[in-house]
Amino acid sequence: MFPVSRPRRLRATAALRELTAESRVNVSDLVAPLFVREGLDSPQPITSLPGVVQHTVPSLVEEVRALVALGVKGVILFGVPSTKDDIGSGAFDPNGIAQKALRNLRDTFQDDIAIMADLCVDEYTSHGHCGVLDAHGHVDNDKTIDIYCRTAIAQATAGAHVVAPSGMMDGQVGAIRAALDAAGFLDVAIMAYSAKYASAEYGPFRDAVDVRIAGGGDRKGYQQDWRNSREAVREVLEDIEQGADIVMVKPALAYLDVVAEIRRLTPLPLAAYHVSGEYSMLKAAAANGWIDHDATALEHLGAIKRAGADIILTYLTRWYAEHVS
Ligand code: PBG
Repeated sequence: MFPVSRPRRLRATAALRELTAESRVNVSDLVAPLFVREGLDSPQPITSLPGVVQHTVPSLVEEVRALVALGVKGVILFGVPSTKDDIGSGAFDPNGIAQKALRNLRDTFQDDIAIMADLCVDEYTSHGHCGVLDAHGHVDNDKTIDIYCRTAIAQATAGAHVVAPSGMMDGQVGAIRAALDAAGFLDVAIMAYSAKYASAEYGPFRDAVDVRIAGGGDRKGYQQDWRNSREAVREVLEDIEQGADIVMVKPALAYLDVVAEIRRLTPLPLAAYHVSGEYSMLKAAAANGWIDHDATALEHLGAIKRAGADIILTYLTRWYAEHVS
């Protein structure tokens, strides 16, 4: 017998496919991660992240100018200091590199684009961990939170619209919210890296920010085990209770089950981070002629959107804004 149902009807032409598409990626969904490095004379390419650079403050401003003109609505900033110490004091120094860059961006672009600041200390600590170490070399949760609160105030003072705690300390969102409120920053939002996994896919990012974890260590003591998804629900619920405005799942593609689950769990905006390793794998395979870069990039971003993310942090933002939309 011939089939009664013919789903192929709606796939017959490009116009029909476009008309019936269930999800779309818009430039305004994308956030560009940007790196600014202290003491540079000119922007430096990052070998493991083709097309991404460590910026000087002036080259950062020019990059954001181009993104604004292309309709991008968000950037997230990472600072790379020229000196590091035990507690990562460059992260909360009012004249630290991230704060300098934030002040320049806010002065130049005002409210034309959402200026987000990654809130962590791993770029600033000599040992490369996301917090302060105790006598046993473990990250001390509560001492680290004090430093995150100081960093949040420094970033908000410098002009960040959004701070984005990425260190996975327990209670960080509530403490940062209270610190921001007490300092009068009631309108500064928190985008929480809520379900952040201890992933091998952050490798190229650590080149971008010059981080080597001391003794060949890892972040499994604070980032999530990738075998778990119920744990992500717990982390997200806690961050919501503590006042997160946007929650995030990171990385993206290997965790789309988690993205879909969190989408059902909360009405808050949901972000997903297509991380450095996801980008680098795409670039490397495309450079070898093994896959079609543009088609694969669209499929990656489209899948993240389909799974339920509202916001995608991606190194593909400028490419998408220039070549796709
Ligand atoms: C921590 C931080 C990391 C990333 C964003 N914020 C690295 C880590 O946890 O080791 C990774 C981003 C990427 O891989 O693109 N400050």
